[in-house]
Order: sequence, then structure tokens, then C-alpha cells
Amino acid sequence: MIKAGLIGSPIRRSLSPRLFCIFSSLLDETFSYSLLETRKPEGLEPVLARIKAMGWRGFNVTLPLKEAVAPLLDALSPEARAIGAVNAVTVKRGRLKGYNTDAFAVRLALREAGCRPRGRVCTVWGAGGAARAAVWVLARAGATAVSVRGRSPVRVKALLRVFSRLFPSVRFTAAALPGSTVFVNATPLGMYAPLPPALRAGGPPGSFYLDFAYPPLKRTSKRSISPITPFLEGRRGKTIPGLDLLIYQALKSAELFGAPDIPTSRFLKLKIKITAELYGPKGPDANGSLDS
Ligand SMILES: NC(=O)c1ccc[n+]([C@@H]2O[C@H](COP(=O)([O-])OP(=O)(O)OC[C@H]3O[C@@H](n4cnc5c(N)ncnc54)[C@H](OP(=O)(O)O)[C@@H]3O)[C@@H](O)[C@H]2O)c1
Repeated sequence: MIKAGLIGSPIRRSLSPRLFCIFSSLLDETFSYSLLETRKPEGLEPVLARIKAMGWRGFNVTLPLKEAVAPLLDALSPEARAIGAVNAVTVKRGRLKGYNTDAFAVRLALREAGCRPRGRVCTVWGAGGAARAAVWVLARAGATAVSVRGRSPVRVKALLRVFSRLFPSVRFTAAALPGSTVFVNATPLGMYAPLPPALRAGGPPGSFYLDFAYPPLKRTSKRSISPITPFLEGRRGKTIPGLDLLIYQALKSAELFGAPDIPTSRFLKLKIKITAELYGPKGPDANGSLDS
């Protein structure tokens, strides 16, 4: 049995315990997955000590701790270091190592959708941890230009400065760029707030649309639920739902925490099974709601 969990706040409605419960029946490994509500970055050190004492083999990190946890760890994967955000941490012989499995999820989901970023112009909405992971994946895969559209100019500028240094051959800008064929929503817009018309901007038919946001999943008697969010709805192109990313980053985390290695070709099959479990009559939810 692998003990693992999640820190951050608010996490009461996180889907992660359900996912790891499903993993226990699919991955030849059993997980006990707990939630450790942690509101402030200032209180993190005692939380990390408690996690070690409880024998967790790893844990996921969510808002507002993804950046704050990094300096407190013993090591970072090159990806987490470059992105500046950690969403999965392993605990081995008392040492903590941080990873960014959101980037893994974006890379895999883009590949699965048939999107090769090389030579493309891309638009990313948002400037937080999810946006950084997406920008890193797109730039590393050879995008020609990346437009980062955010609410806070200071945060956007900081992101552009870091990535311009890391990828000098990619054009980074805070302005809108013509010719974009990859669009990423790395904000909660459309999930917890209405989607502003600007985020409905799109490219020619065949463009790619990736949404980090995923809807609160409510099972209805008609089972008419769909992971398609306002950002993805009605697009003439390939769409990648946030639920796919959520499942992929969690599967990769499970592997890091000690589950047997998952061959890349198995991720898609697992995602289909897990999605069916979440939506289907045998889903882990007993009371009819699957809030995120
Ligand atoms: N599907 C998945 O697996 C997955 C993984 C990671 C994240 N997510 C989701 O992706 C979203 C972003 O996550 P994150 O970790 O990057 O969060 P974050 O670090 O807080 O960044 C959120 C970004 O969205 C912007 N934003 C928030 N509310 C806005 C509003 N009302 N209008 C305009 N911009 C707004 C923020 O702008 P400011 O900079 O001005 O605050 C910031 O740039 C969240 O909804 C999260 O739940 C999903």
C-alpha cells in the first residue's frame, strides 16, 4: 500500500482521492490518498515534516503552494526547475524531490491530439503555474512564437522574461499574435467564472484548443455530462479537455510515488477507463455528485 496525498487549499472537493482510488484497481498497486489542507506557504515546513513522519511516499501540490514549496525541497527535476512550479513531490529516504507532471500531461495530450508545436504560433491565456507548464512544453517543442495573455502585466512580464532567456529562438510577447493555431486556457475562466469573449478567439479550421479548466462533474440521471467547457465548445479543430490533463498528471504522479512504470501507450487506454469510471454507474461516487 502506497501512502500519498495532496496539500493546498481549498482541496475539500478535489477529485484526486477518487482518481487514486480508481488507480488502485488499475495499476497493480493500492493507494491510500489523504488530503492535508494547507492554506499558507508560511506554514509549509511543519507540514512537510508531518508528511515524512506519516510515511507518505509522495504528494501532490496545488494552489497556492506550487511555487512556494520549491525552495523547501531537497531536489527538483530539471522540468520543475525551469517551469518554476511543482505539483508532485516524492519522499525517498527522507528526501523530497519536486516534479511538474502538468507539463508531462500537456505534452502527452498534445501528442495524442496530433499537435506538433514545431513551427507554430501559440496563444496561452494566463500567467500562473499551469500557463508556465504549457509555455515550457510549447517552446521546448519548437513553437515559433508564443503569445501570453494575462490579467496582471507584472506576472506576464516575469513569465516572458524567464522563458525568453530559456528559449532565445522563440518569440515571446504579451500582445495578440496573428496566425495562432494552438490556444491554451490556463485560467479558471469558464470553470469558476464566465468566459470573456476574448478567450473565444480561434484559428483556422484544424487548430488545437487545450483547456486546463474542467467543469464540476455532476452526474445526472440522463448522464448528459460532458468534459467540454465553454473554452472548447463549438471549436473547429481538435479539443483537449482539462479532465484529460488532470488524469494524465495524476497517473504520472502515481508512477513517481511508486506504482509500476506505465508505458506511454497505456496512458490513453487508462484515461478512457478512468473517465468511464468517473462518469459511469460504477463510479466511486455514491451520492451522485462528482465535484472537482
Ligand atoms: N486540468 C488540470 O490537470 C489542471 C492542472 C493545473 C491547473 N489547472 C487549472 O488551471 C487553472 C490555472 O491554474 P494555475 O495553477 O496556473 O493557477 P494560478 O497560478 O493561480 O494562475 C491562474 C491564472 O489565471 C488568471 N486568472 C484567474 N482568475 C482570472 C480572472 N477572473 N480573469 C482573468 N484572469 C484570471 C490569473 O491571473 P493573475 O495573475 O492576475 O492572478 C493567473 O494568470 C486553474 O483553474 C486550475 O484549477 C488544471
